[in-house]
Amino acid sequence: MGTGQVVGGRVRRDLSEISNKPSPNGNIPVKKPIVSSPENRSNSRKRIQRRSKKAVISPVQKLFETCKKVFANGESGIVPSAENIEMLRAVLDEIKPEDVNVSPNMPCFRSKPMLRSPLVTYLHIYECDRFSMGIFCLPPCGVIPLHNHPEMTVFSKLLFGTMHIKSYDWVADSPRQSSDTRLAKVKVDSEFTAPCDASILYPADGGNMHCFTAKTACAVLDVLGPPYSDPAGRHCTYYFDYPFSRFSVDGVAVAEEEKEGYAWLKEREEKPEDLTVMAMMYSGPTMKE
Ligand SMILES: [Fe+2]
Repeated sequence: MGTGQVVGGRVRRDLSEISNKPSPNGNIPVKKPIVSSPENRSNSRKRIQRRSKKAVISPVQKLFETCKKVFANGESGIVPSAENIEMLRAVLDEIKPEDVNVSPNMPCFRSKPMLRSPLVTYLHIYECDRFSMGIFCLPPCGVIPLHNHPEMTVFSKLLFGTMHIKSYDWVADSPRQSSDTRLAKVKVDSEFTAPCDASILYPADGGNMHCFTAKTACAVLDVLGPPYSDPAGRHCTYYFDYPFSRFSVDGVAVAEEEKEGYAWLKEREEKPEDLTVMAMMYSGPTMKE
């Protein structure tokens, strides 16, 4: 639509340059001679500069600019408008691994047999109090255990590889098994292979608690709005998930054939000891703030 309008505008401008006055030779219209004045040349240079500025904006810069608009509010639990969410999703879906300088050949994607569980690497791109951008790099069999995103909207774009994602949302108003164990409904339990659309989770749906398991080496570009913040009360909590049939709780009933779609999530007191995330410098194109 936008491109069509630009093309249409250009066509109209070109036609308007053709004189409507009869030519001395008859009725054949004659194109006006184009005189290149210093002012014209200056305007033309400005137009070229504007075009080249647009042309060189990197995908990461575009993502950054889009995040600034989409997460302008930056408050806990505020979900961006549907229009803004689609805009950010579209920008993410255009990003390729080479745009952020990641490739499966990098050492962080190799399994290290001497380690009990594969090391996860986080490439930090940017963080402010409204949003954060970064890339999780997982070698084959790497796991990011089940965790939550309180009051956040999160976009995850699988850049390459195959990943199993299992995610849950809380069942609202359900009686609890205990103060730290609540009923949750399975939202996603599937494998994804890049290229695939970015997935989005919200404060209360879309799979706010999720677990990533790399089937091959995987890179995931994550955008969090707003990011985790202990002072703001947005802590990252990890969970164990137990089958629905593990506990019997008064007032909670699920049909036999639907039990697979539910689980009890129990808060882990400690960060999982088998999870080691190493932060590294992002080495892709830089951004201007
Ligand atoms: Fe997450």
